[in-house]
Amino acid sequence: MESKPTLGFSAQVIEHFLHPRNVGTIDSPEGMSTITNPVCGDTTELYLRINKGIVEDARFHSLGCVVTIASASVFTEKIKGCNLAELFGRADQEIVPYLVGLVESELGELPVQKLHCPPATVQAFLEAVGKHAQAGGNVELGTAVQKLLPRVSEYYRRGVKAEVD
Ligand code: FES
Repeated sequence: MESKPTLGFSAQVIEHFLHPRNVGTIDSPEGMSTITNPVCGDTTELYLRINKGIVEDARFHSLGCVVTIASASVFTEKIKGCNLAELFGRADQEIVPYLVGLVESELGELPVQKLHCPPATVQAFLEAVGKHAQAGGNVELGTAVQKLLPRVSEYYRRGVKAEVD
């Protein structure tokens, strides 16, 4: 039987919020970032285990809302196994939509006032990869990541813009 949405959220959002995957930290991570959502101030930490350019593990902590926790849960599941060279070898305009899509394709339709939440995990991922690149002296990867961060800002603005219009 199909579950009904709850409090305006899809069943998938509720499931990942109540049973979040990959909560925690990674000792001596190859990539780590702490980001503050620019719209609401909620904080998310992301830890990455990267080996030979492959994301082997991803963990998070979040002092965020239902959708942010559900987003980080889905993202950390889906990003495992990611080949960074393949991901960042894509066209710039494809990468952020692809990463946001990893989350949103799983969570279903979100209330408009929550559209600023999923991009936080994507920003955390890009910043963690950026730090990994910097630590390893990988200028090419670091530059590729830096160029993408402004594209995440466009996703933060979606819900805000809808509320203002
Ligand atoms: Fe702050 Fe969702 S991230 S309301």
